[in-house]
Amino acid sequence: MRIRLDKYLADMGIGTRSEVKRYIQKGMVLVGDETIKKPEHKINTDSDAVCFQNQLVGYETEEYYLLNKPAGVVSATSDKKERTVLDLIESKKRKDLFPVGRLDKDTEGLLLITNDGDLCHRLLSPKKHVDKVYYAKVDGRVTEADVILFAKGVDIGEKELTKPGQLVIRKSGDISEIELTICEGKFHQVKRMFEAVQKKVIYLKRIRMGSLTLEETLPVGEYRKLTQEEIRSLKEC
Ligand code: URA
Repeated sequence: MRIRLDKYLADMGIGTRSEVKRYIQKGMVLVGDETIKKPEHKINTDSDAVCFQNQLVGYETEEYYLLNKPAGVVSATSDKKERTVLDLIESKKRKDLFPVGRLDKDTEGLLLITNDGDLCHRLLSPKKHVDKVYYAKVDGRVTEADVILFAKGVDIGEKELTKPGQLVIRKSGDISEIELTICEGKFHQVKRMFEAVQKKVIYLKRIRMGSLTLEETLPVGEYRKLTQEEIRSLKEC
């Protein structure tokens, strides 16, 4: 792709369009080993080496991050009061990243952050039925009766029952531990499904979305780039 030098630098978060124009005109930008002072100079994003303050910039049209979302941050691109999931992605280059879907403020776990709108659409489209797997701690004894009900779909106050959910009981007790696989993404869906059987989710974490799994070694609040293989298989979901 060929784009203007000022756009290249602004896209990569070096500054606003007018800031990067000033940097270019001051001679702070090299393309190859040549100082370029014209903001409109055309760059080949695949082959040109652009350096700002002696650092290679590198161009990325798409970025993909897997965040292990901590509780206490909101799944938004910006917020006047709260810390957002994007604030946590410190190494991001692009300014057009967004979270793919939402997790509640108190939910932890797997959140994909990208600027790939097509992939986001695919993963969230109700027609695609992409599986989401959640681990939860539930106040109350989760039973086989709940497993059967969830498999049929439960009434969470919408026009229709939820689509079938696969409930696996990991531990049944006063506080139960479960894994639930659902293929929809209704507002507060997991919490509402348990409310429908008179139980309360007290901890919720997403551990899988389609082919993407949250590894246990990624600490809460940390993130990493997706591998090419992960991106490829998500696109096939
Ligand atoms: N279901 C919920 O209730 N909350 C989430 O954050 C995700 C799914």
